[in-house]
Amino acid sequence: MVGGRARVRVRTPPGFPRSAGYDLDWQLEGTMGPNVLWLAEALTQVLPIHPEERVLDLGCGKALSSIFLAREFWAQVTATDLWTPEEDNQRRIEEAGVADRVTPVRAEAHALPFGEAEFDVVISLDAYHYFGTDDLYIGTIHRVLKPGGRFGIVVPGLKTDVTSEGIPAHLQPYWHWDFVSFHSPEWWLRHWEKTGLLQVELADWVPDGWRHWLAWMEICADRGQTGAAAERDMLVKDAGRTLGFARVVGRRPANS
Ligand SMILES: C[S@@+](CC[C@H](N)C(=O)[O-])C[C@H]1O[C@@H](n2cnc3c(N)ncnc32)[C@H](O)[C@@H]1O
Repeated sequence: MVGGRARVRVRTPPGFPRSAGYDLDWQLEGTMGPNVLWLAEALTQVLPIHPEERVLDLGCGKALSSIFLAREFWAQVTATDLWTPEEDNQRRIEEAGVADRVTPVRAEAHALPFGEAEFDVVISLDAYHYFGTDDLYIGTIHRVLKPGGRFGIVVPGLKTDVTSEGIPAHLQPYWHWDFVSFHSPEWWLRHWEKTGLLQVELADWVPDGWRHWLAWMEICADRGQTGAAAERDMLVKDAGRTLGFARVVGRRPANS
């Protein structure tokens, strides 16, 4: 299979018609957690991407979402990641036939090798919570976005932030310390708006996000992927009470 078009059908949730066309094995080889094509589709339904727009895919992992944005919307995508070697993403991008529209760049989020106002859109899928909870990080997003440019994230989140009352009892057996970076949509809204650098246009909970997360973990667990069975069990136990995906979209004001 070359570059993602359908050979084996995935049990794609309804509402994600674009993702349904991509090969299951390709998605499984490139997965680093929840299904990133479904996250990309959930985001682009509220943050439309237009042909030739310059898009930064920040924390793109194995660049599946970058390939998706180039194929589906004809965007010019910079696929930036820390953990994945640039040459691995270059190979995947070439195999997908989008080397003219996707450029891989290995970079740490605090040291992005981009100039001021280079991008029309910045997106980050299942990645921004690794560095974006820092109060000052939004300054980097503001710097690389054009005035009027848009920024959107989808990240694992908690319906209500964990308080001094602690972790919900039913999640304690599964809780990793780094879940402290999971937050509610309202938390992200305040986190961005208090800086005055971005206007938040939407902060919501991806509809049925926990069900999508669970559906993908069931597929990954069936294929024996490390950690997937425990994540599936956690999502079954939680049943959407606490966990899901926060989806947040903001804009750099045109005059800033
Ligand atoms: C869970 S993976 C998700 C990857 C991809 N977006 C996806 O959903 O398949 C998180 C990604 O965040 C990236 N990441 C974490 N910390 C980072 C940092 N400080 N700078 C840049 N990327 C970072 C990692 O390289 C990793 O690929």
